[in-house]
Parts: sequence; C-alpha cells; structure tokens
Amino acid sequence: MGTASFSLLRMLADGGLHSGERLGRALGLSRSGLWNLIRRIEASGLRVLKVRGRGYRLAEALDLFELDALAAGLKKISPELCIEVLDECPSTNTVLAERAAAGAPHGTVLACEYQSAGRGRRGHSWVSAVGGSVAFSILWRFPRGAGALGGLSLAAAVGAAKALERLGTQGVAVKWPNDLYCEGRKLGGILIESSGAIVGPSAAIVGVGINVRLGAHARDRIGVPATDIASHCEATPSRTTVLVAALESIAGVLARFSREGFAPFREEWLQRHAWTGRRVALSQAGRRVAEGKVVGVAEDGALMLASVGGIERFHIGELSLRPE
Ligand code: ATP
Ligand code: BTN
Repeated sequence: MGTASFSLLRMLADGGLHSGERLGRALGLSRSGLWNLIRRIEASGLRVLKVRGRGYRLAEALDLFELDALAAGLKKISPELCIEVLDECPSTNTVLAERAAAGAPHGTVLACEYQSAGRGRRGHSWVSAVGGSVAFSILWRFPRGAGALGGLSLAAAVGAAKALERLGTQGVAVKWPNDLYCEGRKLGGILIESSGAIVGPSAAIVGVGINVRLGAHARDRIGVPATDIASHCEATPSRTTVLVAALESIAGVLARFSREGFAPFREEWLQRHAWTGRRVALSQAGRRVAEGKVVGVAEDGALMLASVGGIERFHIGELSLRPE
C-alpha cells in the first residue's frame, strides 16, 4: 500500500470524520493525490466513506499497533527481545532472514502492519488483513544444530496457543506440525526457517501469523475455511495486546526449547491436539506416503501413526497431514 497510505490510515484510524482539505494539507497532497491514496486503501479491503462537503471516514475504526504500549509491554516481558514494526513488507520471515544473514542479533523481532506476500510451508501463501492480522518473526540463535530443531514449530504453537487462551480465546487446538485451529478452522500458523550446521550452532526465524479479526475481503482471499480470535472470544483483544502476549509466551518457549528441546512441551501439545485417534493420510509433493490412526507425537516432535505395520514415526520435512 505504501508509506503515504499508512500515514493517511493513522489519521483515519479512529473512525471519525476528517476534512479532505486538512488530510491533504497534512500529507502534502492535492485533492486528486488524496483520492488516489483513498482508492489504494480501498483496494486493500478497507471501506472509506465520503461524506459530501464534510470529508472522509473509515466505515469502522481501525486497530493499528500502538507503538508506545508495545515498547512498554516488551520492556516488561523480555530484555532479550528488540522489536521493529514496519508499515508493510512482503514477508517478515524473508526480511528478518536477510537481516539475520547480515548479523542481526538473537532476539530481533520484526512485525508489520501489513504483510503483502506472507508465506506458509511448502510455498503456500499466508493472507493478512490490514488492521486484522498479527504477523511477526523472531530470530533465535541456538547452541544446538539445525538437526535438533525438529519439534520447534510444535513448541512455538504451544506458546502461541497458551497466549491466545490467556487472552480469552476458547477452544484453541493445534494440528501437526505447525497450525493453530479453532472449531476445525485455521486460526494461525507457524513457519520455521532454520540455518546452520546439523550439529550447531544454528539460527531459526520463527514466523507467526494469527488472525485477530478477518473481514470478508481477507476470507475471500484465503479461500479455505479460516477463523479469527474475534469469533472465539467475548472481548476481542487489540492487535498490540495479541502481539505482546504472543511474544512473551513464545520467547519463554524458545528459551526453554534451547535448553531442553521439545520434550517439556509434549504434554501441553497433546492436551490441545484435536486429531488424536483420527484416521489420517500423510502426503509429500501430492503423493500419499502413509495412512493410519494418529497416536500422538514423540519427544522430538515426530508424528506417531498406527498403521498395519505397527507404530511409525514421521519427521516434519515437507509432509502434509489430512483427515481421511
Ligand atoms: P499443512 O497441513 O501441510 O500444514 P496447510 O494447508 O495448513 O497444510 P500451510 O502451508 O500450513 O498449509 O498453510 C498455508 C495455507 O493456509 C494456505 O495454503 C491457505 O490455504 C491457508 N491460509 C492462508 N492464509 C490464511 C489465514 N490468514 N488464515 C487461515 N488460513 C490461511
Ligand atoms: C503456515 O500455516 O503454513 C504458516 C503460516 C505462517 C505465517 C507467518 S506470518 C509471519 C511470518 N512471515 C511469513 O511470511 N510467514 C510467517
């Protein structure tokens, strides 16, 4: 959408009426320049109402990050984390990976108001809504090798689930290996991208996407049944509150995972696992590689399936799990 669009959105975010003349003056724009910016904002799925002779307002107030509250919240929870919030970026994982390669320190967090080309596993895309999603990535450096990070996406999902539960979200469930669900619909996802030698040290970019409030425009773009915190919570928390709570919980999980691996999170993961006992099929690159009944997960995060040949373990890789 561009920096100028976000400057305008900050002025309109309160949902009140703002004179076009004042908005144009504050942004150094002509009437047609302002109008072009408004059209760009509308293309992102937000509705801007024009009140003849009086100005513009958003159809609904917009929940943008409150940077002071964010800084204060983070200072309280973790001296290890250092956050930057961008207006817009293609993918917080991609940008943070570039910074990590250039030497960004452990604990660097990158969040953005709008992620335009978010990524899921296996080249899938992740959709964000302006003012309705939380998307961020954390750079964590581990003394262990990348080979020991197998259960990391499961541990991070436990951290995210606990944060959302503390904020009052009902029925949060996890799905192997990286998803958060609520009532059978996807609420969020984790994308881990690691680098380094198998035996260590290593670094991981832990990317987290959470739907806070999805409008029709975002749901259309997602194309599969998705859900948001607002649908499972009596009072929807602000995006700032969700971001601080998720960072606090996930940073705690990462610190413990670094020392002890996935084992201490296994029980908490299984308690939230919606698919235990379910018959599933595992596939890779569109080809079915196994089928059976989900028994649970092992201490290293491997999926355990009971099939005719006994109990088999599957490591994350590029595998995809579907109900039969
Ligand atoms: P797997 O079970 O293998 O993880 P998946 O379908 O969950 O498969 P992912 O790569 O984990 O795939 O997640 C990306 C998928 O999530 C996209 O292909 C899309 O279907 C869905 N998706 C994209 N954006 C959102 C969103 N904001 N909320 C919910 N689901 C989304
Ligand atoms: C999935 O379900 O496959 C994972 C989705 C992960 C989305 C988050 S949003 C922040 C970070 N940046 C990305 O491009 N992806 C992750």
